[in-house]
Amino acid sequence: MGKVKIAPSILSADFNELGREIHDVETEGADYLHIDVMDGVFVPSISFGMPVIKSIRKKAKIFFDVHMMVTKPERYIKEMADCGADGITIHLEATDDVDAAIDLIHECGKKAGLSIKPETPVSAVSDELLKKLDLLLIMTVQPGFGGQKYIESSTEKIKEMKKRINDLGLSIPIQVDGGINASTIDIVKEAGADILVMGSAVFEGNTAGNMKVLSEKCQ
Ligand code: DX5
Ligand code: ZN
Repeated sequence: MGKVKIAPSILSADFNELGREIHDVETEGADYLHIDVMDGVFVPSISFGMPVIKSIRKKAKIFFDVHMMVTKPERYIKEMADCGADGITIHLEATDDVDAAIDLIHECGKKAGLSIKPETPVSAVSDELLKKLDLLLIMTVQPGFGGQKYIESSTEKIKEMKKRINDLGLSIPIQVDGGINASTIDIVKEAGADILVMGSAVFEGNTAGNMKVLSEKCQ
């Protein structure tokens, strides 16, 4: 098993100290900054959007990995790109024309990710679609909130997707999101995950200290 990458999710950050929190994870070697955008329709909660991303973009150098939990995300892809996203991940379940939405992300010059919810099977992503992606996100909790428990049945989905990607001769990274912490890192790593999103595990308590421990486990 090689090294897996870390994408701290700012959903669990202290927003009174957002700039410092982002600086801390950058300094501690985070690979991506995971930014959860929620619309209150696709998921029950509302988080933050373009003005916040635009503001934090002014200081942060890290790759902005925007996870859009938004219905009909194609309505906002261009704006997300303009306000500083480097990668944009949309949900398969959120749009009627996933191909067009992925193409639009690429037309904006950004990396395109596709996410599936826990109840969506890996087979819902066709080979043709898979070949267009820069990232495949397997949700390991129901999207909408931080701090939930890892759904055990996700492990098989990660393994199945890894096998498909390998069989097709592709090198798309698999990202996992939800309930990833010191106790579940090994499970998802062994199953084939490449990028681990972590919210509460990074930002609850001492951010820099947590990053040191988690980075060690991801080696
Ligand atoms: C949930 C979000 C996650 C969330 C993960 O819908 O997509 O990125 O921040 O939080 P933890 O790591 O606490 O499960
Ligand atoms: Zn997320």
